[in-house]
Amino acid sequence: MDYSKFISEHSKARNPSSIRALMPYVNRKDIISLGAGQPNPATFPFASMTVTLKNGDVMEMDPELFQRCLSYDATAGLQPLQDWLRELQKIEHQPTVEFDVAIGAGSQDLLTKGLEMMINPGDAVLVEDPSYTGALAFLDTQPCDVVGVPTDTSGMIPEAFESLLANWPASNPHGKKDQPRPKVLYTTPTGGNPSGVTISEERRKQMYDICHKYDIMILEDDAYYYLQFGNKRVPSYFSMDVDGRVLRCDSMSKILSSGLRIGWVTGPKVMIERINMHTMASNLQPSGVSQLLAFELLQKWGHDGFMEHVGKVSDFYREKRDLFVDSLNKYMKGRAEWVIPEAGMFVWVKLLGGITDSFDLVMNKALKRRVLAIPGVAFKPMGDKTPYIRLSFSNVVKEDMDEALRRLAEVIDEEAGTTQQ
Ligand SMILES: Cc1ncc(COP(=O)(O)O)c(C=O)c1O
Repeated sequence: MDYSKFISEHSKARNPSSIRALMPYVNRKDIISLGAGQPNPATFPFASMTVTLKNGDVMEMDPELFQRCLSYDATAGLQPLQDWLRELQKIEHQPTVEFDVAIGAGSQDLLTKGLEMMINPGDAVLVEDPSYTGALAFLDTQPCDVVGVPTDTSGMIPEAFESLLANWPASNPHGKKDQPRPKVLYTTPTGGNPSGVTISEERRKQMYDICHKYDIMILEDDAYYYLQFGNKRVPSYFSMDVDGRVLRCDSMSKILSSGLRIGWVTGPKVMIERINMHTMASNLQPSGVSQLLAFELLQKWGHDGFMEHVGKVSDFYREKRDLFVDSLNKYMKGRAEWVIPEAGMFVWVKLLGGITDSFDLVMNKALKRRVLAIPGVAFKPMGDKTPYIRLSFSNVVKEDMDEALRRLAEVIDEEAGTTQQ
């Protein structure tokens, strides 16, 4: 594929930082470095790092790697961690296209760099409607239009997607007559935030084929991929890719720790290189200590141990989901509609009773009763009013699930009564 069409002018203008480009030589024993301005690690107070796991195992960080991670290191991340993640991608997704990997400060770091790389002023970017607010917040700062792809209870609707593209620019809700067809689709295909929806393999194939037809890059933000509740995980867009049109973001946030800030991006070498150039000119590299902590654990577990761990994490959330759905059935039947999520930690709930805008209900009435939800408008690409709210079951015990939904039910009844008057 020729990627020049996808890469924005300002991304193309980025050159390797002359100092960062020399980074690979810094740790070579056969080279005397008078180059990079590395502070002398002898002045750092840290001697070693030992971490105790919840099962009682004690992990002593490799002394040499620990010293290395206290200093500046590779832009794309700690090499042994990159290698481990590259192997994981091969095992899990069995890609048929060539790819490269880079590590970032969470997947947010990488998905925003990925989006920024592909946006020229005046472009339109396609996103699911509703979509992850963290991506929308970033896109709001970019010189582009954000165009929502219609969804139903099973995710993006391929026929609606095709029609949007076939009828472009007339189908452009922003009404710009000469706007070029969008080149990027940003999607959270698994356990969507906020929708909770996991798009099926069949729909993914249809969506991929349409992207192939209209030459669109897919930015697959799959932070909830390993939180799938079934026995088999739905194949990723990355695994289906035959053209090299998928840039995939993964995250350790939901499976190891969100404060570690470790994510990784996988995709065409040319694009990963552009993301690395961005890192060179912004945050320089992901945190060395975080990467080492993740690497030592992953190396100790091996890929099989990692799979065992994510299996336990998904079982944990499946149990929470089941409890939450019981509470929803108990308190929200007739007051709301929802789709039972097959992955992740969210339920996208449509309020009934004639409620057309959930904003005031969530921000004022529910809060007054000391229950917190997110109003659906936060996830709407065009910021339009919606009766939906996002509820998360990740951190709530059963009694609180019941109590929160009981309070919400009261608020809905009051609101529905008001609306009907
Ligand atoms: C869909 C989605 N993508 C990305 C992120 C950011 O994840 P990270 O912690 O890896 O930056 C989140 C976090 O909530 C998310 O929900």
